Amino acid sequence: MEKIVINGGTPLFGQVEISGSKNAALPIIYACVLVKGKCILENIPAISDISFSFEILKGIGAKIKMLDRTTYEVDCTNVEPCISDYDLVRKIRGSYYLLGAEFGRFGKAKVGLPGGCNFGVRPIDQHIKGFEALGGKTTTEGGYVEITSEGAVGANIFFDMSSVGATLNIMIAAATADGVTVIENAAREPHIVDCANFLNTCGARISGAGSDVIKIKGVKELHGCTYAIIPDMIEAGSFMVAAVATRGSVKITNVIPKHLESISAKLEEMGAIIEEFDDAVHVTAGGNIKKTNVKTLPYPGFPTDMHPQMSALLCTAEGTSYVNESIFENRFRYVEELKRMGAKIKVDGRIVYIEGGTPLTPAPVIATDLRGGIAVMIAALTAKGRTEISEIKLIERGYDNIVAKMQALGADVKKITVPDAVDIEQAN
Ligand code: EPZ
Repeated sequence: MEKIVINGGTPLFGQVEISGSKNAALPIIYACVLVKGKCILENIPAISDISFSFEILKGIGAKIKMLDRTTYEVDCTNVEPCISDYDLVRKIRGSYYLLGAEFGRFGKAKVGLPGGCNFGVRPIDQHIKGFEALGGKTTTEGGYVEITSEGAVGANIFFDMSSVGATLNIMIAAATADGVTVIENAAREPHIVDCANFLNTCGARISGAGSDVIKIKGVKELHGCTYAIIPDMIEAGSFMVAAVATRGSVKITNVIPKHLESISAKLEEMGAIIEEFDDAVHVTAGGNIKKTNVKTLPYPGFPTDMHPQMSALLCTAEGTSYVNESIFENRFRYVEELKRMGAKIKVDGRIVYIEGGTPLTPAPVIATDLRGGIAVMIAALTAKGRTEISEIKLIERGYDNIVAKMQALGADVKKITVPDAVDIEQAN
């Protein structure tokens, strides 16, 4: 089993380059299924969610060629409507974009229900609502979602809530539908804009992405293109928070500062100093980091994917703070791990209360999920002494080369391999 070991207590100093956005690369990779041609995708992060997605696409006949560490040629000319690998699909959340892509290309789809971080129910009723509005007859049984139709037809859809996944899935399905689709109450995240830009580069006619009304004029065919994925705003935000939590000073490059505005504003409120450049931010902790309160909201509000990292930071700020998680009913499993490190933290309903100011102490902890994992890494960076983190595959799902990036900032961090418990039993 692999673990990450951190000897904390040292401020982070230096420069780090951010990788491509996981949550933009996933919909764009599956959207390639709509394209009868070759797409060259650049700035793809080297993380397991992406490699699983390429395996899923290969399973339906796509040709995937790695041109360099972050550039891939995806050719879906000869993909067939067939059932993709159920066990692979359930490993990640983003696999559900295959539904919209196959429905858009073939008028039908049958895909296993997605997996992803365990935050409670995570229904896909809005995706289903959208597929049915586009003329799809959907059934969900035996662990699969199946869509049948005479072909996707444009429609007006008003989502019940802001859903990143549903907005992307319907935008993908509607790109080659017959007629015009208008999505209202659409999510506005930057990765939705990126996917719309990718599809338009392939010849789609999508307008309004980034606002809450997206208009898609269906086109007959899409052609191949070359497209560079936007930087990962959550990876960038995670390093910004780590810089402040360790009382360091870090320049974070290959970012779009506009995407980080809610995070920068919150850190400045706490006393951090943030200098913005065209494609970088320089974050310095400054003298006195103050407590604050956070409420997670759909973009451009404070991202839910930054909630656990903020809790780790607020443990280092004197006084009582809270994080109000308004998006997911249960992304609080990381709290128990911070408690093991001495954090004075508790959950009441959907609000995490933190009594900050007492230094955290090392302890064996686990990554409970992707962002919970980076949160315990940040906590361990602030705690003097050796912290061991297990279940690190959950961190590597979404952070490209995280250990090397942290080492380059002066962190005493390494990855080790220890025999699995069962190996020890067998050895005795
Ligand atoms: C995407 O998840 C991201 N995942 C999540 O990032 C992110 O936290 C989330 O968007 C919000 O920004 C990917 O992009 C792969 P939603 P998604 O649909 O699409 C409810 C990470 O750490 N809802 O915007 O699943 C849902 O339960 C991951 O990178 C319905 O009720 O999020 C949630 O409460 C974690 N019905 C809220 O809406 C639906 O049909 C927002 O979910 C869909 C969603």
